[in-house]
Parts: sequence; structure tokens; C-alpha cells
Amino acid sequence: MATIDTPGRGTWNSKLGFILAAAGSAVGLGNIWGFPTQVADNGGAAFILVYLVCCILVGLPVMIAEITIGRKTGKNPVGAFKALDSSGFGAIIGYWGVICGMMILAFYLVISGWTIAYVFEEILKYTGNMTGAAWFGDLANGPKNAIFTIIFMLFTVGIINGGVSNGIERATKILMPFLLFILIVMIGYVFTLEGSADGVREYLMPDFSLIDIDLTLSAMGQAFFSLSLGMGALITYGSYLKKNQNIMESAAYVTVFDIFIAFIAGMLVIPAMYVALSQGIAIFGEDGDLISSVSLVFTVLPQLFENMGGFLGLFVSVSFFLLLGLAALTSSISLLEVPVSYVIDEHKIPRKKASLIVGGIVLFFALIISFDIGLIDVFVNIFNEIGLPLGGMMTCIFLGWVWKSSNALLEIDNGFPGASESNFGKVWAFFIQYICPVLIGIVFVTTVLNIIR
Ligand code: PHE
Repeated sequence: MATIDTPGRGTWNSKLGFILAAAGSAVGLGNIWGFPTQVADNGGAAFILVYLVCCILVGLPVMIAEITIGRKTGKNPVGAFKALDSSGFGAIIGYWGVICGMMILAFYLVISGWTIAYVFEEILKYTGNMTGAAWFGDLANGPKNAIFTIIFMLFTVGIINGGVSNGIERATKILMPFLLFILIVMIGYVFTLEGSADGVREYLMPDFSLIDIDLTLSAMGQAFFSLSLGMGALITYGSYLKKNQNIMESAAYVTVFDIFIAFIAGMLVIPAMYVALSQGIAIFGEDGDLISSVSLVFTVLPQLFENMGGFLGLFVSVSFFLLLGLAALTSSISLLEVPVSYVIDEHKIPRKKASLIVGGIVLFFALIISFDIGLIDVFVNIFNEIGLPLGGMMTCIFLGWVWKSSNALLEIDNGFPGASESNFGKVWAFFIQYICPVLIGIVFVTTVLNIIR
């Protein structure tokens, strides 16, 4: 995979190496925890529709923009914007990305910790140790959250320290298909249970009247989060990219794959919710809203594994939570790589020391969240729903109007000869200059007006 650890900046070893790393960054909790929760929270299929529009019309063009900026400059986000804009103004976008990355990582670690704790929860439940299981399964248990958050952080820092090794590349190649396989097996099982048909209907039949500005803001934030955009992760990964790789094609693969995994995860979780409902488990409160949404996946899926029962249930559940943890790990390393590469490049601090410093700061916030998981929603609102689209909007404006799309297209021409003359290139430039910033801007302005009113 990448030789991120090599001084003098390495490159990805193969075309697939970059796509896998970017897909590893994209596919994570956002797909399997975030997407189904958002779908359930925002009225089912209507959300999916708006989400798709956000991914294709805004996410994909922004992804191409970030990778291009990264490859052109070969730098971390702060350095990259500085390199393209001598006024220094652009660097603000990079700094914003570094901050968002660190704050997103803080809550990301806590949820990632839950996935590992649930491996223990499932095993203990299987052995009949209900007290132990309840301890590991209690999402609001501060000390337990803190322990698993620290464990997860150590893994993340360990990988970043050593550089992204071949081991991870090989592991992702096997684990991603296995995760997909487990998801499909689980979907097959859910479909045999009573109540699932209601869930499928909810998931696939949009009620257009539910589309409003709140839903759109959530969908936009979710698209940026799931595709790892708006905070420079793909600028950083793009900086390790070889000149002969086709940026547009790679970005398209990553986007489609990420949407696909989220769609599959929703196809499991939403019907599973309705199965739980038909078994008398309350998933909606009296106001009709979902009960404590951050815990949805961790409530509904273990119920499903219990239904499966026996050793099969245990095998599927342990595999599921382990794989989810690994998918989260390939995302958390990309979140940490952004601030770390900034500290290495701009402050000339060696990698190990940089990752310890940044890791320590992030861990401080993560521990606070461990003891008050209500903060997750707050962090999601500020740094994910608002922070990432804001970063994406500034990136578009910067690329389209300061650096200029024509220059970016010349960079894209490497690896995609003739891109700048092609319709792809022209449409992309138009999107980056006008469509993306305007669409994100409209969502922001309407949201603010709604709040004021
Ligand atoms: N895309 C990751 C996920 O879906 C999260 C992430 C966001 C990673 C931003 C990097 C940057 O879980």
C-alpha cells in the first residue's frame, strides 16, 4: 500500500493500492452505523434519494477535486493550499480540515470502541454470563468506553507510526469482501423473519413529503462523512498518488463502492428494526422518533444474532463486530493521517513524535466523550454535518476560482490524457465552480434562516 512512512513522501505501490486505501477510508462506521441510523431517523427511502443526489452531484466532484489538489502539490492539506495560493488565505481551509479531522476522530474512536466491546458482549452472552455481557454492552458505561477508546487509539497510532503496511493492504483485500459476504448472509436471514417486509417497504418506497431542509442537511453531511470528504483525507491520500493514475476513474470507483456498502447495510438494519418491532421490542418513542439513535445498530443487530441463536449466531455476530471494527480502523487511520502529516510537514516533527502528540490531543477529547456519549450528537452536528460540507464548499471555491479548474484539469490529464478537452472534464469544472458551492451554500443558508426564524 502506501509508503506513507518513507521520508521524502512515497507513492502507492499499485493502482489498486490507492483505490483500496481510499475505499478503506470511505467504508467504515459511516456506512454501517451512520447511514442506517440516518435513514431511520429521517423517514426511510426519502433520505436515500437525497443522499444519492448529494453523493453524485456534490461528493464525486469534490472527491476528484481533493485528490487532484493532493497529487498536484504532494503535500498535507495545509501545505497543499499554501502551495497553490501565495496569499496564505487558502491555508485556512487546510487548518479547518485538520481541526475537523481531529474532532471527528474523537467521537469515531468511541464508537469504534463499542464494536470491539460488543465482540466480548456477544461471547459472554453466549456463555451465559449475563452480568459480564451487560457491562460490555452498556454504551453509556464511561470507564468501559474509555478503555476501548484507548485500545482503538493505540491500534490507530500504531499503524500510523509504522506507516500503512502491506499487511493492512492484504488484509483489506480479504476483509472487505468478507464483510460484504457476512452482510449478505445476514440480509438473507432477516428476510425470512416476520416484519422484515415492512422494513423493506420503508427502505425502498420514498415518501417525498418528508424531504425538507433538515433532511437535506443531514444527507449532505452524511455524504461528506461517508465519502471521507471536506477535511483533506483525500488530499493527503492523493499526495501519495502516482502521476499515471486516472483520478476521475478512481474517484468514481470509490464513490460507487461506498454508496453500495451503505445501501447494503441499510438493507440489513432497517428490516431488522421492523423484525424487532414485530417481536415487541420498542424502537420508537412516544413522539414517533427513534429511541436513542446512536445506539440503534447496537440494539437491533444483537437482537437479530440472538434470534439466529446457537453457535451460528455467535459466529456471525463476532465476525460482524470484528469486521466492523476493522472497517472503522482503516477509516480512523485516514482521519489521523491528516493532522499527523500536517505536523510532520509543516512543523518538521518526526512521524512517531507527531502521531503521539496529535494522538494525545485527540484522545483527550475522546475520553471526555467516553464519559458523556450525548456529546456524540453535538460533535456530529458541528464537525460532520456543518464542518465537512463547509470544508468541501471552500475547497470548490478555492479550486474553481483561485487555483482555477483549468489548472486542475491539466493535473487530471496525467493518467487521463485528454481529460481537459473531454466532456467529463468540462462538466466537472462547471460543477466545481458553480453547482457544488451553490448547492452546499443553499443548504447552509436555508438551515441558518430556519434556525433564526
Ligand atoms: N468515511 C468514514 C466512514 O464512513 C469516516 C471518515 C470521515 C474518514 C472523514 C475520513 C474522513 O466511516
